[in-house]
Amino acid sequence: MTKVLFPLFLIFIACTSSEKKGTIESELNSTKTDDYFRVIEGDDEEFDQSLINRGEVLIAYSDCLDCHKVENRAKGPAFLDIAKRYPYQQVYIDLLSQKIITGGNGSWGNPVMSAHPKVLMEDSKAMAAYILSLENQED
Ligand code: HEC
Repeated sequence: MTKVLFPLFLIFIACTSSEKKGTIESELNSTKTDDYFRVIEGDDEEFDQSLINRGEVLIAYSDCLDCHKVENRAKGPAFLDIAKRYPYQQVYIDLLSQKIITGGNGSWGNPVMSAHPKVLMEDSKAMAAYILSLENQED
């Protein structure tokens, strides 16, 4: 009798422990989608106000607001959180304008941002400049 039960017992233990492992892993993955981010230190460069204004208009006419809101997370991170995370500097405007065109994931968790291959680089830079300027326009 024990010869039959013991292997069954082992299988039972193996199954329940792997299930536990599964939930811990999915919990870890789900915390990734919370907007915890490390702020990149750096001083803002001088605002290019006409670029920023153009970016705001371009965003209004694109699909960005389907996934982004200014103040709160939607499918994508809040624009204000993006502005808090990166200083307003040319390097970050360049970096984010690339990302707007290629799309992708990983910086804010698992959700994927769609690619925008038709957006021109100069327009994309204006959009990134507008987003990064937001934090400061609030105060
Ligand atoms: C389908 C939904 C969706 C649309 C449409 C969308 N985004 Fe996003 N966006 C996301 C998601 C999701 C992320 C987070 C990606 C990540 O974690 O790397 C994101 C991230 C970003 C970031 C931060 C990137 C980083 O690496 O920190 C910027 C800037 C951005 N979006 C701008 C835009 C602009 C501008 C548009 C319109 C042209 C746009 N998004 C349209 C979903 C979207």
